Amino acid sequence: MTKFIVFTDLHMVPEGQSIIGLDPFQRLAAGIDHVNRYHADADRVIVMGDLAHRADRPSYERLKGLLEQLVPPLAITIGNHDNRETFLDVFPNVTPDENGFIQEVIDFPDCRTVLLDTLFAPPYDYPRSHAGFLCTRRLAWLDHQLESAGDLPVLLFMHHPPHATGFSGMDLIRLINEVDFYDVVKRRGNVLHIFAGHVHRTISGSSRGIPFSVFKSPVHQQPMPFDAPDASLSVDEPAGYGIAVLTDTGILVHTEDYEIAVREATVA
Ligand SMILES: [Fe+2]
Repeated sequence: MTKFIVFTDLHMVPEGQSIIGLDPFQRLAAGIDHVNRYHADADRVIVMGDLAHRADRPSYERLKGLLEQLVPPLAITIGNHDNRETFLDVFPNVTPDENGFIQEVIDFPDCRTVLLDTLFAPPYDYPRSHAGFLCTRRLAWLDHQLESAGDLPVLLFMHHPPHATGFSGMDLIRLINEVDFYDVVKRRGNVLHIFAGHVHRTISGSSRGIPFSVFKSPVHQQPMPFDAPDASLSVDEPAGYGIAVLTDTGILVHTEDYEIAVREATVA
């Protein structure tokens, strides 16, 4: 049994700043405290990008200070709000792959975990590059990790969902080469589950027969309805993180709205 805690879309800002009136630092600090209290036994905390709202160094430094408080070990990749070079400058302990991408493979007794870097940059010409992209080199790296997984089922962790999720604005900036991605994944046939963020909403389902989970942010969330024209519209709904547990027969995926969670249960 391997247990993962998943955070995505942290959107850290410099001290004194907020996002729609919410404090990303306070929100994440509460989440880390919650994980340390109830899931200190997790095998990995995985953070799936949009680490800093404007990719500035002070925000990455604040984030680093918070993440160092986590009890379980940590693995990180980046999203469309991030800057690869600035991130690596502040997080020198993160080793990029041989091509400089923030990608990592971690093996556990019952699964192989692959973190993918879907940042479509440089150049950092937002907003165009808010979409995700896996270039030829990243896809080749993924193909190799799938090929060499042996008997281990593979879990993929990536910022951008590789398929539409129903929010028309966000779907325009999903992974833009999803056909190439699924060609690799389907050919190898050993991906058990795909985890993503980016949409700031709890979503689950399947695409091409492979189940997926999209987790919400600890900060601002994606509002309904599905057809909101502006992908940056946000709403103050409870903060959350994901929990994934490998079992003898598959995988369990939970979401924890830790801000509103009540632990002192009473008899119903
Ligand atoms: Fe985000």
